[in-house]
Amino acid sequence: MSGPHLRDFNRIVFFTGAGMSAESGVPTYRGAGGIWKEYDYRRYACQDAFNRDPAAVWEFHNYRRRLVAACAPNLGHRIIARAGQRETRVTVVTQNIDGLHALSGSRDILELHGNLWRVRCDTCGVKQQDPHEPREQLRCDGCGGWWRPDIVWFGDFLNDATLHSAKQLISSCDLFVSVGTSAVVYPAAHLPEYARAGKALRVEINPDETPASELYDVHLRGPATEMLTRLADGDPQLLDPA
Ligand code: APR
Repeated sequence: MSGPHLRDFNRIVFFTGAGMSAESGVPTYRGAGGIWKEYDYRRYACQDAFNRDPAAVWEFHNYRRRLVAACAPNLGHRIIARAGQRETRVTVVTQNIDGLHALSGSRDILELHGNLWRVRCDTCGVKQQDPHEPREQLRCDGCGGWWRPDIVWFGDFLNDATLHSAKQLISSCDLFVSVGTSAVVYPAAHLPEYARAGKALRVEINPDETPASELYDVHLRGPATEMLTRLADGDPQLLDPA
């Protein structure tokens, strides 16, 4: 006997965080080996730090580019991408900036916190894709301002349109699967509430309990690749709310 498969749902949202890419080798932010344990975000990941010392902030982000460039999408990314190739509408709402969902073939992706491989002029706002590491050109051709990573740092606002689309999609999905987020960073951490209001079946994949765990019907305590494999295989007991 097999339980519900991903294909049994019409509109699925995968809501992903750093734990999604952990098995690809991308360090998470918090917990063991978390990047904010080693690097103080106040020195490397906020606008004030960039205004004070853009070169130091770039050094940190070039280090992150180097780390991510050495990583490939994992089985979990590929399972999500495959789910989106069927008739089911699958959207990835991700907090990750690593670009691994796109690399694995997912097409419908909302990047809440931007993308490490895109830069934005801090003065004139023009944007540019740049897949190279390290990013060497630090001054805008057009206006001479500093390029900065087009990502959401601490204290930055999320893009309004992206957040709005995420809320709409999450409100109207029938399966909401959170994968590998500590659920402590807002406004992203608030999004699962929209799935609850919309009556989607809510699944949390995370080896650990989180402050948002009570919002979920089903808790899959284990690594993303293993739990997404079981979900895609239609493991009979998996979606029984315990
Ligand atoms: N599979 C699933 N989950 C995992 C795995 C794994 N293999 N390994 C770790 N996790 C879980 C951890 O238990 C933790 O709950 O992933 C979560 C990672 O949490 P964070 O490092 O806080 O990452 P995230 O929730 O994405 O952070 C949110 O914080 O600093 C900001 O902008 C940054 O987007 C980021 C935001």
